Amino acid sequence: MGNAARKPIIVGNWKLQKTIAQALELVTELKNALTQVRDVEVGVAPVFTAIASVAKRLEGTPIAVAGQDCYWEDAGAFTGEVSAPMLKDAGASHVIIGHSERRHLFGELDAAVNLKLKAALRTGLVPIVCVGETEKERDAGETMGRVGAQLDGALAGIEADAAGKIVIAYEPVWAIGTGRTATNAQAQEVHAFIRGRLRERVGAVAETMRIQYGGSVKPDNVAGLMAEPDIDGALVGGASLTADSFIKIVRFKRT
Ligand code: 13P
Repeated sequence: MGNAARKPIIVGNWKLQKTIAQALELVTELKNALTQVRDVEVGVAPVFTAIASVAKRLEGTPIAVAGQDCYWEDAGAFTGEVSAPMLKDAGASHVIIGHSERRHLFGELDAAVNLKLKAALRTGLVPIVCVGETEKERDAGETMGRVGAQLDGALAGIEADAAGKIVIAYEPVWAIGTGRTATNAQAQEVHAFIRGRLRERVGAVAETMRIQYGGSVKPDNVAGLMAEPDIDGALVGGASLTADSFIKIVRFKRT
């Protein structure tokens, strides 16, 4: 990790998995194993219906609870949506925004990501903003263009003082759920590009912003990724669903 000012952040994105009972079983194991973890910020992102129960079970522990999405209005006639203040009310402190599954399966555009990011910031939730190219875009040499455009779209109108709270997650779409992790060098290259773009947009505060890598992170590849200078954490899907593998990831051996 490049910078001691950036506390590593590792979050399990459970996606559409786990009933309340299953979620509680998992976080009870995490809670028992990770109470002493202070040098890594740890979080879990359950489905909306499990957030309140999970947050209650994790009260007084260092493990944070994240939403997987939020709407940009606080309240009103928006059937089916969940707002940032409602997430906070349920006990969440973080929220994932613009995950590639939201973008690709549900047609979420950069403008919506920007509004959701602003809603998270005004509510005091830590936003985790996801960016990443598809395989086709990578093969066409469009990785930096795509990621840069997603960052510009997400961060439009965000001032430097607010930007410091934002976590960026670089998740190459071709590495999500495929078992195909980006190599350490491939990930670092994009992370360095992201930090450069952040520097252009918000100046020196970019050095304090955490950039997570996501896409087939496992116990056996996390340490190598985390050793890269601009990789400050992980957003973990499949391997966050069992206590054993998520605990191993959180306790990655620093190199
Ligand atoms: P996997 O770890 O299952 O590849 O998922 C990554 C992801 O999408 C996390 O948000």
